[in-house]
Amino acid sequence: MNGPKACVIGWPVRQSRSPLIHRYWLRLYGVEGSYELAEVEPHAFEAFVRDFAARGLVGGNVTVPHKEAAFALLDAAEPAAAELKAANTLWLEDGALRGTNTDGFGFLANLDAAAPGWEGRRRLAVVLGAGGASRAVVAALAGRGFARVAVVNRTASRAFEVARLAGRAGEPYGPDDLPELLAETGLLVNATSLGMTGKPPLEIDLAPLSRSAVVTDLVYAPLETDLLAAARARGNAVVDGLGMLLHQAAPGFERWFGVRPEVTPELRSNLIDNLLGR
Ligand code: ATR
Repeated sequence: MNGPKACVIGWPVRQSRSPLIHRYWLRLYGVEGSYELAEVEPHAFEAFVRDFAARGLVGGNVTVPHKEAAFALLDAAEPAAAELKAANTLWLEDGALRGTNTDGFGFLANLDAAAPGWEGRRRLAVVLGAGGASRAVVAALAGRGFARVAVVNRTASRAFEVARLAGRAGEPYGPDDLPELLAETGLLVNATSLGMTGKPPLEIDLAPLSRSAVVTDLVYAPLETDLLAAARARGNAVVDGLGMLLHQAAPGFERWFGVRPEVTPELRSNLIDNLLGR
């Protein structure tokens, strides 16, 4: 196939839904180009990326476990990648390797699209978890002007480290502080892996949470997690995590293929079919 060629690099990578998303957009916009899976072990990652041009690649997405290694190889990092010291989107520009991190953008764009007004007065946001996904969310919420971003995590040292990404807005907490935080917050985000198919459940009592708070889960398998079902049942607005996956893909597509793509209902339903094995 002719046209620009991009890929997603991971190890393992077979589970990645990125090819489905980018190939949908290639077809939708009639762009001649391709998007492939690249399963690359950690020891081979640097050589693979340095060989982009020789492989005919204009760039690619980077997923677990390569995001930090990708950042370290950049000739120039966009602020979003520099902040997180992790890159998920790479491209060649005038021979230089450039990169950004679109996870925070995807998180915000999903909420903007699915729950307009979700920001409320931007007083307090509560983020559960302090892993890689949480880092992007915490930095993004601070960037949107939230006065307080509370990071609630089992392991205190990680909560401290991630809260720092929100600058003066960042506040680390332990699980015992959650009821008090829920009573005050306008936004609750699950950025732990709990509640994902095959993982332990997220055990949380939503009773103190205001009915006006928006609840979102980064877990998208199952699509409606127990957290979202419980929040919906008591009248909270809920946003599932699939939209973040879709929106974070858009900036890369635009870089590589020159079209700003839209997250269409059809793309979302294709992805749901794929996740359900239909
Ligand atoms: P990712 O990079 O995808 O965000 P991760 O780095 O594995 O994933 O982080 C998973 C998050 O879920 C962490 O915040 C983790 O808490 P710890 O930092 O205390 O390990 C949280 N998590 C996972 N299993 C948990 C459990 N059984 N109870 C409480 N928190 C859990």
